[in-house]
Amino acid sequence: MLLREVFQAALCDGTSNKTYAPFEGRQRSRPGARAGRLGASTQAVSILGHPPRPEGRCPRPGMILRGMILAASIFLSLQLWPLAQEKEESKEVKNPLGKDKAAIAAGREIYGSTCAACHGTTGQGGRGPRLADAVRGVRDMSDKKVFDVIKEGVKGTQMPPFSLPDTQIWQMVSFIRSLNATAIDEDIPGNVAAGEALFFGSGKCSECHMIHGHGGLIGPDLSNLGVERSAKKIEEALKDPSATIVPGFAWVSVVTRDGRSISGVAKNNSHHSIQILDLKGNFNFFLKRDLKEVVHYKKSLMPQPSLSDRELQDLLAFLSRQSMAPPPEPAKKIEHGKENTP
Ligand code: HEC
Ligand code: HEC
Repeated sequence: MLLREVFQAALCDGTSNKTYAPFEGRQRSRPGARAGRLGASTQAVSILGHPPRPEGRCPRPGMILRGMILAASIFLSLQLWPLAQEKEESKEVKNPLGKDKAAIAAGREIYGSTCAACHGTTGQGGRGPRLADAVRGVRDMSDKKVFDVIKEGVKGTQMPPFSLPDTQIWQMVSFIRSLNATAIDEDIPGNVAAGEALFFGSGKCSECHMIHGHGGLIGPDLSNLGVERSAKKIEEALKDPSATIVPGFAWVSVVTRDGRSISGVAKNNSHHSIQILDLKGNFNFFLKRDLKEVVHYKKSLMPQPSLSDRELQDLLAFLSRQSMAPPPEPAKKIEHGKENTP
């Protein structure tokens, strides 16, 4: 966050008339674009799924109990520590309107007439930054921070303050959040169990993809897909795998000077060397000078799946629910000392 702000401060000089690239954020680069050239591009391995954490909070020690004997103060601090933390947490102002449908609709109205000129009608960005599917930026901001940006503007930039009633601002926060909803926020219809069976069975997806430790390595791990991608994006990946290539999974094939050919995904590609994870799951390291040919494909290595409408829907239902977050607390309380351990 800090880096971003420093970066922005450097960019925004007060008079700035800067136009934000409409593809900022979620859009992926297409590292495969330069076919056939040796040492063409350096490419970063995907670190998706690890957005920067919100600014750290420093829980206050809670209390200082002078004059008490050491043992008592340790005992008390152990007792009161959780209380102190809970208090800090509830100080974080959340959007009181949340995901309320009427609030989102009202927010969309105001946004359309007030903000769309700069941020784009669908939040795709323009004079202002992208607000929809924003991997960085608004998606990592707290509700309160988004609220403050709208209410107070951003000094030294074109983002003006808006003196609207709080409710209207929260409605816009709800709307902006809805632009960044990922698949897990949506209730995608379909048979989850059938989708899972297809994934690990006849669909052969798990030959290349891993979910929660089961499956292959050549494609991205999909264990957190529902949190990282919108339902639209997942559907696109299944209907047209080449539409966007996940960084770190570009298809490459090489021919060595001694005549071997290896095809797979390029993991590290520098001027001097390239590492390829091949279709059998082996890592191969090559010095570029030992290669006769390097082909970077623009297409995805993933074959276009042939699925019936029903199968597609079931897979979507299954994939959209994939999350690394621990499952919600079970409703039933476990009585201490009475757990049944098998
Ligand atoms: C005149 C153009 C303009 C208008 C109108 C405008 N914005 Fe902005 N907005 C910007 C610019 C430029 C920035 C980037 C400021 C910066 O560099 O930190 C921005 C930043 C933001 C951010 C922070 C996003 C980020 O990634 O840093 C939010 C949220 C936002 N605007 C929401 C709104 C809303 C909601 C409205 C309508 C009520 C609105 N803006 C109207 C130009 C505009
Ligand atoms: C031969 C290996 C292979 C098979 C089989 C395969 N995939 Fe893929 N898949 C990949 C690779 C490589 C990528 C990354 C390149 C790209 O973005 O297209 C990918 C990308 C994806 C993505 C996008 C992930 C993201 O982070 O956005 C999804 C979703 C996906 N595959 C689902 C499936 C499903 C469902 C099946 C089974 C019907 C399947 N794949 C079969 C190799 C494969």
